[in-house]
This record gives sequence, structure tokens and C-alpha cells, in this order.
Amino acid sequence: MEQAQAAAGSSAYYSPEPAQAPVEYAIETSGLNLWYGDFQALFDVNLDIKKGIITSLIGPSGCGKSTFLRSINRINERLGYVRIQGSIMVYDNDVYGTDVELAQVRKQIGMVFQRPNPLPLSIRDNVLFGFDIHASGGRRAHRSEKDEIVEQALRQVLLWDTVKDRLDRKATELSLEEQQKLCIARLLPVKPTVLLMDEPCSALDPKGTEAVEELVWGLSDDYTIVIVTHNMAQARRASNECIFMLMGEVVEHADTADMFVTPKNKETADYIEGRYG
Ligand SMILES: Nc1ncnc2c1ncn2[C@@H]1O[C@H](COP(=O)(O)OP(=O)(O)OP(=O)(O)O)[C@@H](O)[C@H]1O
Ligand SMILES: [Mg+2]
Repeated sequence: MEQAQAAAGSSAYYSPEPAQAPVEYAIETSGLNLWYGDFQALFDVNLDIKKGIITSLIGPSGCGKSTFLRSINRINERLGYVRIQGSIMVYDNDVYGTDVELAQVRKQIGMVFQRPNPLPLSIRDNVLFGFDIHASGGRRAHRSEKDEIVEQALRQVLLWDTVKDRLDRKATELSLEEQQKLCIARLLPVKPTVLLMDEPCSALDPKGTEAVEELVWGLSDDYTIVIVTHNMAQARRASNECIFMLMGEVVEHADTADMFVTPKNKETADYIEGRYG
């Protein structure tokens, strides 16, 4: 009996913590520095961004938010005078590795910009554009398969019911909110793992902002999302983790709720309380 009690006691005492799933990272940067010509815009950025959550990126104008985002899918390098040092891993692939194919990087990492930029094509052709280039694997998909892809993508961005009867109309005729939703929709058929969004609501009115935020939140089950915003309320509402940058450096990276309630750095506190731009 004593033995049993001792065993029970000891097993209670030593009982291991319930097993927790290891944290998995979608984007890992290490020693990332970036220069535009002689001007250094990013300084030793070391970030681990978790898979399957929304991470917001905040900081004053010119602190390097867009530069950082554009480094992840390598669109900075279109500018001949950009130089990058350090590494960026996306889903364990070295984005700047010598054997990496740029088309593969762009396929894996979708990007949405401040102003919606639909192509001057029909709504349907906008949704299928990336798919036709990347995902169809060189074969011609059937009309019915494409119809299915279009419907699924537009449903995911909560646009299907609005546009299903006018899929052949020009995308540029849509409202800004609808155009931005369409720009998100057209990324989905190529099955990206990461979605980068650079102030996707900044051209929208409050109602449009709310609608796009709701959509972004819904997508977080299936994608890793990094979203830049100047809107503190949006960062707070619409993200799980938050990164604060200042003058090309990461100052703080934390759980969003923690960062807004108990920021660890004075600069973060000053920024989120609106004491500077
Ligand atoms: N194409 C470019 N050529 C040269 N310098 C650039 C270029 N793009 C950005 N910069 C500079 O790099 C720094 C970071 O700019 P970036 O656009 O990344 O900031 P940001 O945080 O996105 O700002 P904002 O909130 O205004 O969008 C700024 O000093 C900017 O002037
Ligand atoms: Mg920017």
C-alpha cells in the first residue's frame, strides 16, 4: 500500500507536462542586412515568424517594413542597386540559395500591395492568371476544372456571390474593396504557403477595411500571413503576433496582446501610444 502510494505520489510528482506540439516557423531570417546603393535600410534582422498565424509588421514611415516584406519574395532585387546579406528561409527553403528557382519562390509566396492592381482582364481571367502560368503544370486544364478553381478562390475571399453573374466583366470595373479581394483571390489557385500583405487596406474606406480584415482573418487557417499596417487598431484586432521596427531594426517581436498591453521597449510603447509617426 505504502509502495502504491509512494508510486502514485512519485508519479504525480514527476508527471510530465502534457506534450506540446513543437513551434514551427514559416519564415526565418538570420543576419539580414539590405542596402539600396550606399543606403542601409535593414540592419541585422533576425526573425522567426510562426506558421499558420497572422503576424503584423508595424513602425513609422521609412523604418523598412516594405523593404523587409519585399526581401522575402525577392522582388527587391528587380532594382539593380539592391544588395542583401544574410539568409531568409521560407518553409525550410533558402530563398536566396543558389539552386532556388525564382518562379518557385513567387509561387510559394503571394503578395498583395497597397493599391489593388488587377490586370486589365476579366474577373475570371484575373483569378486564373497565376494558375495558368504556375500551377497548371504545362497541361491545359478543362473549362469545368477552371470554373471550379475560379469559384473556390472567389468564395474564399467572400466575393463569389457579388460577382458570380459577371465573371466576364473587366476587373477594373469593381470597387476598390472588391478589387483588393480579387487580388487576394488570384494568389490562391497557385497554392502559396505564405501571403505577404503590404498595407492592403490603406486605399479602402472603413467598411472596405473591415471586409478585407475579416477575409484575412479567415485565411489564417490555411496560410501564414505577414501584414504591414499603419493602423494600430488593425494590428491589434487582426494579428496574433506583432513585430515593431524602427530605422531598419527589429525592436520587438511578441504576442500582439502582450505587445499592446505591456510593451517591453520604450520605443514600442511610444509608437503604439501614438507619440510619434
Ligand atoms: N527603391 C528604393 N530606393 C532607395 N531607397 C529606398 C527604396 N525603397 C525604400 N527606400 C528607403 O528605404 C527605407 C525604408 O523604406 P520602406 O519603404 O521599406 O519603409 P516603410 O516602413 O515601408 O515605410 P512606409 O510606412 O512609408 O511604407 C526608407 O529610408 C526609404 O527611403
Ligand atoms: Mg511601406
